[in-house]
Amino acid sequence: MISISRRQFLAAASATAVTSMTSPSFAASANDELRVVVIGVNSIGNTHLNGFPKVPGVKVVGACDVDSAALGKRAEEFEKKFGYTLKKYDDLRRVYDDPNVDAVVLAVPNHWHGLGTVWGCQAGKDVYTEKPCSHNIWEAGQMEKAAKKYDRIVQIGIQRRSFTHLQEFFKEVQDGVLGKVMHVKGLYLTRRDSIGRPTSPPKPLPTVNHDLWCGPAPTKLERAKYHYDWHWFWDYGNAELGNNGPHILDLCRWSIGAEEFPTSVSSIGGRYAWDDNGQTPNTHILRYEYATAPITFEIRDLPTETGKKDTCKYMGLSYGIVVEGEDATYVGFDTGKVIDKSGKTIREISGNTGTDGGRQLHRENFAKAVRSRKTSDLNCSVKTGHLSTALCHLGNISHRVGKPIGLNSLSEQVAQQPLLTDAAGRMLEHLSANGVDLPSASVQMGETLAINPKTETFVSSEQANQLLRREYRAPYVVPENV
Ligand SMILES: NC(=O)c1ccc[n+]([C@@H]2O[C@H](COP(=O)([O-])OP(=O)(O)OC[C@H]3O[C@@H](n4cnc5c(N)ncnc54)[C@H](O)[C@@H]3O)[C@@H](O)[C@H]2O)c1
Repeated sequence: MISISRRQFLAAASATAVTSMTSPSFAASANDELRVVVIGVNSIGNTHLNGFPKVPGVKVVGACDVDSAALGKRAEEFEKKFGYTLKKYDDLRRVYDDPNVDAVVLAVPNHWHGLGTVWGCQAGKDVYTEKPCSHNIWEAGQMEKAAKKYDRIVQIGIQRRSFTHLQEFFKEVQDGVLGKVMHVKGLYLTRRDSIGRPTSPPKPLPTVNHDLWCGPAPTKLERAKYHYDWHWFWDYGNAELGNNGPHILDLCRWSIGAEEFPTSVSSIGGRYAWDDNGQTPNTHILRYEYATAPITFEIRDLPTETGKKDTCKYMGLSYGIVVEGEDATYVGFDTGKVIDKSGKTIREISGNTGTDGGRQLHRENFAKAVRSRKTSDLNCSVKTGHLSTALCHLGNISHRVGKPIGLNSLSEQVAQQPLLTDAAGRMLEHLSANGVDLPSASVQMGETLAINPKTETFVSSEQANQLLRREYRAPYVVPENV
């Protein structure tokens, strides 16, 4: 049970608005039940509804969603499975007002991660925020400040950070087990479909509070499918780079212990083969410069060739990383292997990945840190999540301030950069196999942008610096002073 004094204190808190005072931290006793509400339950939030009750000492007490259909469905399923009724909230501010809630899981679209986390911290809740850490670089800093100021535990949902075998192996990589690392390559080679081009203006689902769904972002609606497809519009999502990129780029950065921003970023990308109104690239190559080793990242959302269902592979991987050392190479994702120069496997890297793609271990880690009240116990603090997510934002900014060039001049443009020459060659072959007419198509040649890792800003592009943050739609504004 929670201590009496804490309950009394919490009961006194305002029930009408997001409280701007902190409540006492979750009691340290291992016997106290941690009361969790999942916010956003359509898709990944549902895995949290099912996973958090299995964490010892955690009770899921409620669910919140702006879509009454998703909320009703998930609450009913939960009751059938776990045998008790969840409290339902249609506005996250009411969750934050509720003194009977200790922690929240933010499984809402990206444009809500910053404000949802800051409000949660201000209201005295601990927060598990899904990846990407933030929708833009500036608001991640505000999240970090809020967590510190209100002494909150904030975990970012980049769950492979909770794999002990990777924690141990990447330490070895940093200590030189592969020899000097020359290059780290990230890969996210998947297959998606066109989202279509609505012929008449789409309408929000009748069950959704669209104003609250949009929150900090504009309310215009350009997608036919309401949920999930927001990833492909800059106002709400962050492209495939900010969707699955945080997982992959986190592994890249973690493997070499790169604990700050890179010194430069470049990008090459476009949206091909689909006749739709999505805004973000479905084919993207990134390069990040670090003193330790450069990181490149290849993203493809198109299949191996037109009409096929399979996805591309590189060294046997569709998703994952290749760490090229002078002596040996690591190839892996959740688990992996070390190969020698002849390609022979000399070591397997594996361990406990838990259930639900690693999320269960990550939930357990969150609960542990909430009890200990130590951010240092978290496997993915805001700082860690921010550094990995920032790589996605930096790449998207390079893309957005870039200029279109003819695809057939791409090879010439990257001729002086061997790592990009290889990747661009693969990209051209792949696009051709997907029916793209190379001589007539164009590609967005992102600007190569120098970055100051200390200030986390671009050195000389005002246009790029403008994209470090967004305009917030009142009253959904991430405050300057958290
Ligand atoms: N860690 C992982 O492996 C992983 C996997 C998938 C998704 N995610 C992340 O989880 C988040 C959600 O993804 P999804 O695929 O479930 O998206 P989704 O669009 O399917 O579902 C989002 C839900 O949030 C609700 N919502 C929107 N604004 C809300 C608000 N203000 N208050 C309450 N509910 C609100 C929506 O109505 C919807 O039900 C994204 O940020 C995504 O990047 C993480």
